[in-house]
Amino acid sequence: MLVIFKSLEFKEGKLFLIDQRKLPGEKEYFLCHTYQDVEYAIARMVVRGAPAIGATAAYGLYLAAKEFQKHAKRDFFPKMREASYMLRKSRATAVSLAWALKRMERITEEEQDKELPEIVKRLKEEADKIAREDIEINRSIGRYGRELVAEGAVILTHCNTGGLATVGYGTALGVIRAAYERDKKIHVYANETRPWLQGARLTAFELREEGIPVTVIIDSVAATLIRDGKIDLIIVGADRIASNGDTANKIGTFMLSELAKNYHVPFYVAAPVSTIDFELDNGSEIEIEERAPEEVTHIQSIQIVPDGVDVYNPAFDLTPHENIDGIITEKGIIRAPYKEGLASLKQI
Ligand code: MRU
Repeated sequence: MLVIFKSLEFKEGKLFLIDQRKLPGEKEYFLCHTYQDVEYAIARMVVRGAPAIGATAAYGLYLAAKEFQKHAKRDFFPKMREASYMLRKSRATAVSLAWALKRMERITEEEQDKELPEIVKRLKEEADKIAREDIEINRSIGRYGRELVAEGAVILTHCNTGGLATVGYGTALGVIRAAYERDKKIHVYANETRPWLQGARLTAFELREEGIPVTVIIDSVAATLIRDGKIDLIIVGADRIASNGDTANKIGTFMLSELAKNYHVPFYVAAPVSTIDFELDNGSEIEIEERAPEEVTHIQSIQIVPDGVDVYNPAFDLTPHENIDGIITEKGIIRAPYKEGLASLKQI
């Protein structure tokens, strides 16, 4: 029986987030009553993964609207713009955040002549729609992607791209799920993914719950496995894809893609179309989030780096499109030349 992990749920007037900082040890919910709670949850990684933070931000803007409807109508719109800006700044790289907020802003604009309670109602409907659609989109990515997974395949993945990183089901992990649902005998290697350990804590947790065979490795083992011919396929997610296919994803992805190219292992990115930033020509324009040094100097409050030592902690890196064999979207698998292929998705 497959378990569909849902990272978030809006009920009883508040947003319930599984606190991903505490998994797998504790299954605790973090409750967001206000848009400031939502901003905190995204910035502090209570919720993470591009599609999940997009949907979370949408509910954040709805919570803001609920609060601001108490004010005069002329104050409502500037306050909404401020709240949206604050939510957008909570993390830098994942374009899903800006994409979801833009959808919410469009509703605010379209409905601006209506009474505030009506606008607020429409915003809730839109946030629900974003969340609902995400699961359908992931299932579709899974259906396309599973065709790439051969019987008995050994798959390497990085970070967490499962139900926890999305509203449910997952992107790269959704492909793995979809293959498993078809009774394919697969084995997954999950990179632990320093420093947040999304692979060791979250991917391993999700796969174990579903009985999908998984082996956790430290990130530096990947090269040996790939060189020794132990990996048939690499599938990762994406935080932002430029129009030419260059892809920003969790730090370490680029290294895997170089290994894949060198040892001729198929390397695929699985992501919804909303992850494509058509405003960017290539990946050099993608802002790469840099996070606090403490994430590297400390492991669960234990200091492992001497005082006063510099740390460089980018959360993502850039994989050039030449290293990618295909981008699995909900509308099909796009291959090089990416510029044309990705642009065609706009029309479908
Ligand atoms: O820093 P995180 O945990 O938010 O990074 C997540 C990733 O890099 C994922 O691969 C990406 O968001 C895709 S999730 C479906």
